[in-house]
Amino acid sequence: MSREIDPEYLDRENLEKLQLKRLKKVLDRVYHKVPFYREAFDARKVKPDNIKNLKDLERLPFTTREDLRAGYPYGFLTSSLSRLVRLHTSTGTTGKPKAVLFTQKDIDQAARLITRSMSMTGAGPEDVFQNMMSYGLFTGGLIFHYGAERAGLLVIPSGTGNTERQIELMHDFKTTIVHITPSYALYLAEVMERMGMDPRGDFNLRIVYLGAEPYSEATKSKIEEIFSLDAYDSYGLSEMNGPGVAFECKEKCGMHLWEDNFIMEVIDQETLEIRRDSEEGELVLTTLNREAMPILRYRTGDLTHIYPDPCRCGRVHRRISRIKGRVDDMFILRGVNIFPSEVERILMGLPEVGRNYQIVLERHGGLEEMRVILEIKKRFFRGSLKDLKRLQNKIKARLKGELMVTPQVELVEPATLPRTTGKAKRLIDKRKI
Ligand code: DLL
Repeated sequence: MSREIDPEYLDRENLEKLQLKRLKKVLDRVYHKVPFYREAFDARKVKPDNIKNLKDLERLPFTTREDLRAGYPYGFLTSSLSRLVRLHTSTGTTGKPKAVLFTQKDIDQAARLITRSMSMTGAGPEDVFQNMMSYGLFTGGLIFHYGAERAGLLVIPSGTGNTERQIELMHDFKTTIVHITPSYALYLAEVMERMGMDPRGDFNLRIVYLGAEPYSEATKSKIEEIFSLDAYDSYGLSEMNGPGVAFECKEKCGMHLWEDNFIMEVIDQETLEIRRDSEEGELVLTTLNREAMPILRYRTGDLTHIYPDPCRCGRVHRRISRIKGRVDDMFILRGVNIFPSEVERILMGLPEVGRNYQIVLERHGGLEEMRVILEIKKRFFRGSLKDLKRLQNKIKARLKGELMVTPQVELVEPATLPRTTGKAKRLIDKRKI
C-alpha cells in the first residue's frame, strides 16, 4: 500500500485534484439527499456530472444563513439519524439557531484539523492547554477540546466564567497554552492584576489562540505584550464545524484555510461576482469532507481577502486576511460606512487607551450620533482635568480623521464598562429602538 501524503503538505496540483475528487462526491450526495440542493440544481439546469473542474463551482447555487434556518432542524442532513453523534449550534442569533449535525467521522475530522492547526504553531504533548471557551452547544469548547486531546496535550476544560478559579488552575498546573476570545483575554489580565499577580511573570503561558469574534491586530499585539506570549488568530464558524477552518502559522501573515477540507471563494457581496486575490469581499465556503451535513458555497457573511503570494512556511493552503468584520456588522452613520473593527484598530493603536470600549449609536432629533466610551489607563486620571480634556480631543480628532465622522468621546476609568467571558458586544445601536 502506498503511503498517503498528509494533505497539509500536498503540492498545489495534487491539492486541487483532491478537492475536485471530494467535491464530486459531495455533489452527488447533496443532489440525491437534500431537496433544497436538488431544486436549486434543477432550477439552474445543472447536474452533478456537469461539474468537471473546480472552475465549474461557479455554476452551483449559494447557501445562505436563511436557507440553513429554513432547513432547521434536519433539512440539510445526508446521513441517517442513527449515524449522528453530536449537535452544535451557532451563537448570537435571534430566532432559530443554525444547527449543525455531526457523525463520528465528522467529529474526528474536525478534531484532526484542530490538531493540525495546533501542531503548526508548535504545540505538543509537553504543553498544558486550558480551553477557556464555552462548552456546550458552542463549538469553541468541545471541538477544540477533542483536537487538543488528539494532539496529546494535557487539557484543562475550564470553559468560561469563574475567572479567579481559572487563574488558580492556570498558575498551579503551569498552563502553557490558552484558547480564549480576545475580549475575555483582556479581562483575564485585569483579574490577574486585581489578584496581585503578574500576567507576564507569574505564569508559564507561551501561546494563546484567539478567535470567535472580530478584533484588531493592535488588540492582538496588546495581548501578546500583556502576557508575553505568541498569539495566533483562529477562524471558524459553527456551520463549517466551528474552529479549525483557518489558522495562523508561525509566520503570522494571514490564516491558512485548510483547502483539503474547504473550497474558498471571495465574492462581491452585492453583485455576487468572484473577487480576485487581494480584493476584499465576503468569504464563501464549500465543505469537502463532511458526512452528515455537506454545505455548498456557504455565504459566511465574513469580510476578508485571499493573499496572492505563497507563505514562507511552505504550506500551499492559501491564506485569508484577518476577518475585517461581518457584512452585517457594518453600520452607516450619516451616510458613512463604518466597520467596528476600524474603530477598534484606531483606538487600540493609541498608547493611552486601556482594554475596553463601547460604541453607542444614538439619534437625537434628526441627528445621528456616535458615542465612543473608552477606558483610559489609570495614570491619565491622576493628571489635571485639562490634560484629560486634551486627551479626549486628541482621540476625537484621530477618529474623525480616519472615519470621516465626528464622534462624541467619553473617557472612563479602567474596569468601568461591562465585562464578558464569551463574545464581546461592543456595538450598541439605539437608533432602531
Ligand atoms: O465562533 C467558532 C470558533 C470558535 C472560531 C473558537 C474560533 C475559535 P460561531 O459562534 O458560529 O462559531 O461564530 C462564527 O464568528 O462567522 C465570524 O464572524 C466570527 N469569528 C470567528 N473567528 C473569528 C476570528 C465560532 N478569528 C463567527 N476573527 C464567524 C474574526 C471571527 N471573527
